[in-house]
Amino acid sequence: MKNLEWGKLSFSYTKTDYIIYSTFKDGKWSAPVLTKDFTYPFSVYAGVLHYGSSCFEGMKCFRGVDGKVRLFRPEENAKRLIRSAKFLDLQAPSVEQFIEMSLMVIKANSEYIPPYETTASLYLRPLLVGVNPQLGIRSSSESMFIIMASPVGTYSGDRILVPGTAVVGRNYDRAAPNGSGSYKIGANYAQSLHPYNIAHAQGYRELLFLDSKTNSLIEEFGSSNFFAVKGNTYITPKSPSILPSITNASLRTVAEDLGMKVEMREIPLTEMAEVDEANSCGTAVVITPICRIDDKVHLEDEQVARSYTFANECGPKSRKLYDQIIGFQKGTLEDRHNWIMFVDC
Ligand SMILES: Cc1ncc(COP(=O)(O)O)c(C=O)c1O
Repeated sequence: MKNLEWGKLSFSYTKTDYIIYSTFKDGKWSAPVLTKDFTYPFSVYAGVLHYGSSCFEGMKCFRGVDGKVRLFRPEENAKRLIRSAKFLDLQAPSVEQFIEMSLMVIKANSEYIPPYETTASLYLRPLLVGVNPQLGIRSSSESMFIIMASPVGTYSGDRILVPGTAVVGRNYDRAAPNGSGSYKIGANYAQSLHPYNIAHAQGYRELLFLDSKTNSLIEEFGSSNFFAVKGNTYITPKSPSILPSITNASLRTVAEDLGMKVEMREIPLTEMAEVDEANSCGTAVVITPICRIDDKVHLEDEQVARSYTFANECGPKSRKLYDQIIGFQKGTLEDRHNWIMFVDC
């Protein structure tokens, strides 16, 4: 195992030894190539550079209490990548190819899988881009599928469940009702870069988007889904324009296991005055408690139209959900939903 300062890792990139890639050309995928060269010389006319022909995934791999290496729900990521690629009319790898290449790149970088005792994990970033030269606006006919691996900590280093603030800027939309919001494509993230920069410069951890039709319903954060706990009910937005989060889906199952009621429905921002616990959830953030949501008419304004405040610590029900998810990922709980794929390395 590499001698890294695991406790100092945050959610940022650390160079590992290998990436893996395969290219689709003339109707077939090339054999996967493990390489130490992290650059790839493709044409400056590639569709990914001009027309956003790009989709990606994010998943995590853990060293368990028994020393075994566990990958969390990779089939779900594979299926979601295929769905995103379909939206871009880009050739995607099969579920089998996605998983085979994921296992290969984990094994090649196994020395970077953090020790069990830490809160860190090995993050995998599968990326699918259109690479053939083109000028006209059309989908790419040749694609490249790459998987990178980087050890990561949480957004707060080795501390977990550190509460953060969020802001709503009603003058920025993330996705239109019939648009691309439910796909994990680069274009959705491009939309959020500028307002995120403003929110971060104002000291907020997160940017919370409302639906672009009524400007009143909670959609999701730029980086993650939203869920709240109201009494014994887990509530999370139902919308055609948010990413179907694998973490959120897992949490809904676990909430039911714990005897909670689960509601996936429209959630007006004003309902935040009545909820007990608010959180962001996703592979990168796991569960991050939200301690305040500031609602602004214009993100750039100093004034806040209305604030919703929550406890400055993770709520008890959210904490139980967190412990379950981490328990599956780290092997301290029995994998009763069959969510774990063991990696032989
Ligand atoms: C916009 C957005 N929503 C939600 C999520 C959470 O999805 P998942 O739980 O599958 O990581 C992510 C990624 O982590 C995201 O980028």
